[in-house]
Amino acid sequence: MSRPRVHVLNGPNLSRLGRREPEVYGTTTLAELAALCGGWADGLGLDLVFEQCEGEGELVALIHRAGDQAAGLILNAAAYTHTSVAVRDAVCAIAIPVVEVHLSNPAAREPFRRRNLLEDVVYAGVRGFGTEGYRLALEGLAARLRD
Ligand code: DQA
Repeated sequence: MSRPRVHVLNGPNLSRLGRREPEVYGTTTLAELAALCGGWADGLGLDLVFEQCEGEGELVALIHRAGDQAAGLILNAAAYTHTSVAVRDAVCAIAIPVVEVHLSNPAAREPFRRRNLLEDVVYAGVRGFGTEGYRLALEGLAARLRD
């Protein structure tokens, strides 16, 4: 039996995880996070595609691709969460459940991070748990996909 496929999509600057503001984002690198997610997904019976990109258009294209190829999407849109109507529209343009994840809790940081263009169009959100948030998002999405 084929396993549901989930895409995990990371936006700009998350390529620098581990050395980027470690006091905010922790010391786990993106490659380490990808490996962790792979293991968690496997344990949940999911196939995983883990991606990162820096650009807004690329992020939009990868959201579309997830909509065409995956059963669910975990999205850390990073700074585009706070600025991008195009990313919001891309989330609205696909029919799979999207779980928004953030390593930090943006609402507890600078005021401009309180603006969130995604929170009302995603299925669910996980914020502030660091890399553990990706595990929680995968578990939640796996449960949603079992329904
Ligand atoms: C982030 C939070 C955003 O505000 C920020 O722009 C990021 C990372 C997080 O995972 O905590 O790049 O999405």
